[in-house]
Amino acid sequence: AAASDGGLTQATGEIIHEGLRNLEYRGYDSVGVALVGDVSGLTVSKQSGEVDGLDIPAIGDATHGIGHTRWSTHGPPTDSNAHPHTDCGGDVAVVHNGIIENYEELKQELSAHEFTSDTDTEVIPHLIEEELAADPDADLLAAVRRVETRLEGSYAICAVREDDDRIIVARRGSPLVLGHGDHTAFVASDVTAFLEHTREVTYLEDGDVAALEAGDVSVYHDGDVVDRGSETVTWEADAAEKGGYEHYMRKEIHEQPEALRQTLAGRLDVDAGNVDLDVSFPPGFLADLEEIRIVACGTSYYAGRYAAQLFEELAGVRASVEIASEYEFGAGRTPDRTLVVAVTQSGETADTLGAIRRAKDAGARTFAVTNTLGSTVTREVDGTAFIRAGPEIGVAATKTFASQVATLAMLAVAVGRDRGALAASDARSVLEDLQGLPGAVQQVLDEEPQVREAAQAYQDSEAFFFVGRALGVPVALEGALKLKEISYDHAEGFAAGELKHGPLALVTPDTPVLAVLTDRSRGRETMNNVTEAQTRGAPALGCVSEDTEYDTLDVSFDVPDVGTVEPLVANVYLQLFAYHVANEKGRSIDKPRNLAKSVTVE
Ligand code: G6P
Repeated sequence: AAASDGGLTQATGEIIHEGLRNLEYRGYDSVGVALVGDVSGLTVSKQSGEVDGLDIPAIGDATHGIGHTRWSTHGPPTDSNAHPHTDCGGDVAVVHNGIIENYEELKQELSAHEFTSDTDTEVIPHLIEEELAADPDADLLAAVRRVETRLEGSYAICAVREDDDRIIVARRGSPLVLGHGDHTAFVASDVTAFLEHTREVTYLEDGDVAALEAGDVSVYHDGDVVDRGSETVTWEADAAEKGGYEHYMRKEIHEQPEALRQTLAGRLDVDAGNVDLDVSFPPGFLADLEEIRIVACGTSYYAGRYAAQLFEELAGVRASVEIASEYEFGAGRTPDRTLVVAVTQSGETADTLGAIRRAKDAGARTFAVTNTLGSTVTREVDGTAFIRAGPEIGVAATKTFASQVATLAMLAVAVGRDRGALAASDARSVLEDLQGLPGAVQQVLDEEPQVREAAQAYQDSEAFFFVGRALGVPVALEGALKLKEISYDHAEGFAAGELKHGPLALVTPDTPVLAVLTDRSRGRETMNNVTEAQTRGAPALGCVSEDTEYDTLDVSFDVPDVGTVEPLVANVYLQLFAYHVANEKGRSIDKPRNLAKSVTVE
């Protein structure tokens, strides 16, 4: 959003359009702007598709405006779901990032209002309209401040109103940064949007509301004016797009706590031990379910391997996972009592779509767990759960793996509860583990210097082996995949018990073994296998539950205790290890040779 007193040569609409282009890496399935001029009033223009496809209306007198490039979380990417959203009277317009968790409740309360989209965002302009109607003295700032107290979830909001020369913004849980120009004021989700115009910025904090006018910004917190200071950005535009990180992959590794919060937002009822994933199955289907078969490729396949164990443990149902390109329905199986679950970040992987089509042909019920609203898989399956991790740019999947596993864990609890296979108290403990996940991942991220040191010490090794047991196996496999993808080093993952059945022949002092040694993934037994490798000279690095110690390890990384998802937290160490080995070697981390993010050929 930008506000100007005309001291700029460029038109307001163009400045906003350019800002959106710079933000396109955050998502690009729909785009829109709202411009406000003294004479022209409020003009909204929006559509599905990429930023460049939007023709900005030629509003010569526009003094300020807001814009949005969308990455859908509620409602598919259509013209009407694009932001900005307006009230019934059409004189308030709002753009929003994040998720309003209580939007259904609020929407019911607003039953007299006509809604034109499926988004959670649209409740906001209608709530503002209500506040303005209820109190003739209220202005946009007062209305936004009142509405803000009604919203649950995470949000960054920008609002404009006809006949008001300010942009009002609010943040809780989603980023917002202000930019200070001579005759202008800017606000955006990140500085990249306006770096060409100013490097003087102020980062807003949770609960802040701000009013922007040409060249002037006021920030309020709990009703009081506050001074958040300002700082000068010294990054170049390219680095800014990556939030100051050198690579998208590292940025995405660090985004995991926030991504996981979005994944879980509004879906857990911990006290009751229930999960609401907003998916429904035909009555009796889950109770009669004989088998869950997960189909996926690459990292998603490893998320599937993690999940298959959770389905067996929590949902009391036989579960298997297959590499999508190898999947056949198979003889002796009962299609109407089988659920085939596609796990796919992009929702476009040809191998996975092929498997889903074969499952459908056999008559099975199908389901997708994906990051991408409106993707092909969502149109082909009977039901979908979205992982809400936000766009992932690095070819090597990181935050989407964590969010996939968290979503599948919720699905396992939901299915288990529905089938009567999981007691409320057991469900509660899993949900508590999930709740602890973002914080636990953050603790691991804070240990990054230790991981970098280990990566520097072992980067020149001949090969790397990753081992684990139980839920540690998919994490070991994923750890090896990450390292080979981005460092081009030879890396293999094994079930720890298998080391002695072959791979031990490869072990030398030049082949470090990285082990998942968390208590609930049979860490002690795994450690025995690690010791077998150490006896043959291999250095050993382990991800170990906080309260446990294995003195013989060469390097030990602490994993916070979050039960079922502890190995998932251990995985963050392996991501950081892969990243730093590759970085030391100067590899093309975000775009490794020969690979693609989305593989649409079989
Ligand atoms: C490609 C990517 C991998 C990804 C796999 C599955 O091979 O390089 O990172 O795990 O596809 O992608 P999907 O979008 O189906 O999860």
